[in-house]
Amino acid sequence: MKHFTHLKDFTIDELNAIIDSAIALKKSAPAGLPLAGKSLAFCFMNPSLRTQVSFSVATASLGGHPVTLSLGSGGTWGMESVEGVVMDGTAAEHLKEAVPVLGRMCQGLGLRSFPAGKSWAEDKKENALAAFIKYSTVPVINMESASGHPCQALADLMTIRERMEPKKKNFLLSWAPHVKALPMAVPNSAVEIASMAGMNVTIARPEGYDLDPEVMARVGNNCAANGARLSLTDKVPQSFDGQHVVYGKSWGSLSEYGKPPSSDPAFRKKWTISAAKMQRTEKAIFMHCLPVRRGLVVEDAVLDGPWSVVIDEAENRLHTAKAVLLHLLASPKPAPARRHRK
Ligand code: CP
Repeated sequence: MKHFTHLKDFTIDELNAIIDSAIALKKSAPAGLPLAGKSLAFCFMNPSLRTQVSFSVATASLGGHPVTLSLGSGGTWGMESVEGVVMDGTAAEHLKEAVPVLGRMCQGLGLRSFPAGKSWAEDKKENALAAFIKYSTVPVINMESASGHPCQALADLMTIRERMEPKKKNFLLSWAPHVKALPMAVPNSAVEIASMAGMNVTIARPEGYDLDPEVMARVGNNCAANGARLSLTDKVPQSFDGQHVVYGKSWGSLSEYGKPPSSDPAFRKKWTISAAKMQRTEKAIFMHCLPVRRGLVVEDAVLDGPWSVVIDEAENRLHTAKAVLLHLLASPKPAPARRHRK
């Protein structure tokens, strides 16, 4: 059974094949209704706009039936994911029952489960996603976990590919200020897929904001295998020089896990992505997964200026969602009948 949960389970050729399908689906609808008779349950433990709508619309447009569940917030029971616990807290149901039950009713499942933000060692276990994978009898899609957001990464690479051949182009992931310690899923997946695609990767971040070492090891190996550069720096605005893609994103510190970044105005000014910084690039595109806090993460002049592709990037969530669903669920075309010689 196929799942779509982590980029590391795929080669770049496999990911590009899904993106090829998304590019084709953006141009024209597939013949017939390939998901007719299939239902999918999209389970959200955290809020979402793009992921929720893209998977729901993608499923319906392919002829399937989407069911969206907000686990633990009003409509559906709070779920326990850890085995062997005495369930005397707020969770009323264990994923050990809920996931197989959903699998008896639906042909695919999606899960969004953010980190709790107290211990990275604990969050990194991705207990809820691991339980979905373990107990599911149908394909599982990771709609953002603690360590990655592979669906966003597909849309990101699609958006880059629509504008340039990624190989050997310069990709900057630039940390940005925020009022919260945000998850690392998006930046992890953004640099992982950029490195898989053969891009030179620069990560500009303040001291203490390195990404998870396991992700960085994969990114380093990918860059080395592709003959591409990997650079880490805390120098802004110099990090913007010569870049073709600027990916702005805030994330929380691993060394002070869960603690919001400094609100010192000078620190914020240094890291907010500005038009002046973008002007140092090679006419780079500006990318962000959204939602984005204007004026804090990035200046209005960037989001409203010639660099920004964030709306196209968000639209590509829909096309890549369709491609992921077809990759996991579309019935293979029947092989042509063999002719027998007489
Ligand atoms: N980028 C993204 O995943 O958006 P949502 O959180 O709104 O789904």
